[in-house]
Amino acid sequence: MDVMRIRGGKRLEGEIPIHGAKNSALPLLAATLLVPGVSEIHNCPRLSDVDASLTILRHLGCRVTRCEDVVTVDATAPCRSEIPDDLMRQMRSSIVFLGAVVARCGQAVLTHPGGCELGPRPIDLHLAALSRLGVQVEECHGTIRCTAPQGVQGNEISLSFPSVGATENVLLAACTAVGTTRLHNAAREPEIGDLCRFLNGCGARISGMESGTITIEGVRCLHPVTHRVMPDRIEAATYLAAAALTGGDVTLTRCAIQATAPVFPALEQAGCRLCRLGEDTLRVRGPQRPERLGTVRTLPYPGFPTDGAAPLVAVACGAKGTSVFVETIFENRYRYVDELTRMGARIRVDGRVAVVEGVPRLQGAQVACTDLRGGAALAVAALAATGETCLTNLTHLDRGYEDFEGCLRAVGAEIVRETVGKG
Ligand code: UD1
Repeated sequence: MDVMRIRGGKRLEGEIPIHGAKNSALPLLAATLLVPGVSEIHNCPRLSDVDASLTILRHLGCRVTRCEDVVTVDATAPCRSEIPDDLMRQMRSSIVFLGAVVARCGQAVLTHPGGCELGPRPIDLHLAALSRLGVQVEECHGTIRCTAPQGVQGNEISLSFPSVGATENVLLAACTAVGTTRLHNAAREPEIGDLCRFLNGCGARISGMESGTITIEGVRCLHPVTHRVMPDRIEAATYLAAAALTGGDVTLTRCAIQATAPVFPALEQAGCRLCRLGEDTLRVRGPQRPERLGTVRTLPYPGFPTDGAAPLVAVACGAKGTSVFVETIFENRYRYVDELTRMGARIRVDGRVAVVEGVPRLQGAQVACTDLRGGAALAVAALAATGETCLTNLTHLDRGYEDFEGCLRAVGAEIVRETVGKG
């Protein structure tokens, strides 16, 4: 088992280069399945969720190689259209393969992704949207069989909620469909834009992705391209939070500043000074002690991102005064709060609301990651706590942060990762 030991109290200072975005890389890798030929995905982060996607692509019959940050996918001849349960369970977002597999193979069989650490993870919007595209969906004992006997057919679709995954599945299913698809109330997250840029580069005809209504004119065939994954805005938000809580002076390079901007008002309210030093370079200077953050409400983009809330809760734990967080996207996103409480945080959770009363000093403790962003919040808190924090269950962090400890050590954090006990 790996543990991370963090000795808190160091002011973070220096540069952190931001890696490619997990939430962009995963749908992009699924999209390579649509392209007969060899796609090259650059700036692809080294994450266990990315590895899970590569395993699925190999299982489907693609030839996949990785060299440094470049992943090459040869999807000339996929030979399977079913994804077994063990691969589906490795990563909940494997559902994003559904649209790609059904579009490329005319059918797809996979299992229901089930619930996850954030609460139930329904896929009703994905399935209803695909049905509108002429895909016949049968669900039986957790297995989902999708067939498109006449091929995928363009249509009008309206999502009742701008689901990121459902929007991606529609894009993947519709770009080689017969006819035009218009998707209303589509998600506007920047990673959707990245997926559209890749698909359009391959010859797809997609427009309106920033407007909430996406038009996809079906094309017969896509051709391979080389694409660079956009930078990870949640990784950026996490390191901004770490700088904020430690009174640090950190410069993020290769940062998608515009995409990260929805977290800036909360950080500025905390007393951070943010300064753009170039197109993709952002400097943050944290206050001696953060001010209260006011009320932070998570919303679909361009609102405050749900994935950015946990690291900001950690900032609020050390702030002067009381901050309030309202989670509107997921049902159960506060499991890490009990762990923060072990570190002396004062947080009351009532359903989707967390009231955080800042304390002057958090204390190091033995804590376990409960989920990806919750784990990041514990690490951020540990960086400012007195004494040592021992963080376990690191598999959650490995899903979404490449070289987490290396990035933080480079800006002066006392942080080591070690293997203890058996395996
Ligand atoms: C993606 C991101 C995740 C982020 C989330 C919201 C990836 C790989 N993951 O997840 O990090 O937190 O967007 O920005 O990109 N819902 C339904 N029915 C559905 C689909 C979704 O009820 O068919 C609900 C979900 O339960 C959730 C909400 O809609 O409460 C948001 O889900 P969605 O936008 O689909 O998130 P994901 O694509 O799963």
